[in-house]
Amino acid sequence: DWNPGNVIADQVAAIRAQVGDARVICALSGGVDSSVAAALVQKAVGDQLTCVFVDHGLLRTGEAEQVEQDFVAATGVKLMVVDARERFLSALAGVSDPETKRKIIGREFIRVFEDAAREVVADAGAHGEDVKFLVQGTLYPDVVESGGGEGAANIKSHHNVGGLPDDLQFELVEPLRTLFKDEVRAVGLELGVPEAIVWRQPFPGPGLGIRIVGDVTAERLDTLRAADAIAREELTKAGLDREIWQCPVVLLADVRSVGVQGDGRTYGHPIVLRPVSSEDAMTADWTRLPYDVLATISTRITNEVPEVNRVVLDVTSKPPGTIEWE
Ligand code: XMP
Repeated sequence: DWNPGNVIADQVAAIRAQVGDARVICALSGGVDSSVAAALVQKAVGDQLTCVFVDHGLLRTGEAEQVEQDFVAATGVKLMVVDARERFLSALAGVSDPETKRKIIGREFIRVFEDAAREVVADAGAHGEDVKFLVQGTLYPDVVESGGGEGAANIKSHHNVGGLPDDLQFELVEPLRTLFKDEVRAVGLELGVPEAIVWRQPFPGPGLGIRIVGDVTAERLDTLRAADAIAREELTKAGLDREIWQCPVVLLADVRSVGVQGDGRTYGHPIVLRPVSSEDAMTADWTRLPYDVLATISTRITNEVPEVNRVVLDVTSKPPGTIEWE
């Protein structure tokens, strides 16, 4: 009989056998896979594990705190936080092409993680210890998708740190390799990982960087974060979280339209709501959200986010549209 308690017991034993008394490092993204993988390794080897959280400034409201405070409080993980927000903003300055953004974000992520990993290695060395292992939240479908080769990792994610230099090579610890997503969630809940993380909808590695159509600035990120927080709050309040696969909220930063707000004419930006229903993100349909929920989201965003004077709904299936706008 499958149950999360057995999986945890088996994996804890397997991780201890693999790792011995070596040190282990893990890049936490705030998503369910890396969080549950880290929680399992923490349970197995405690402080031999150091997690690194790169705050690239492209997360949504509350997500960095979820990792830095809630996850740490729930699991006792030793966490190194790298505030790389300025670095990512500078690297992205003036860039509006989606694939270029992805490349830059992926590249910067690896570089920041590399620096952090060197620090962990140096600290371990000072205590006569060796950092030999890297945790990855590879799931069973990822293994299948990439042919099951050694080190198979989520090919969609830039959190695949396969691009590390030769002097920073680690053996992989992949405690979720045999599990499907729903099983990972069950294991996460059993381990006490916060529900907000366990049930987080898919969120792309490049984060809000690819939800601003146009170049990424601190002000635009603030605008998008504010609108996104309202949309998520209202969808949760309406009890729709589990019905929606994910709901990207997109800022059309290069588009302006005329509006009338308060005393006068405005010339602001549109926000796009992109709620989709899907099984696996390969195909998707737009979710028929209740009109009153849409109305509340629209009213609140245009009232509470000064830069936004229009909210539009994306009614395109995939194909032909992708889920994300970039
Ligand atoms: P699309 O937009 O291709 O998205 O229909 C399919 C799924 O993949 C996510 N996505 C990404 N995830 N890095 C990621 O880690 C990316 O660059 C990326 N682009 C899209 C998207 O959120 C959806 O779940």
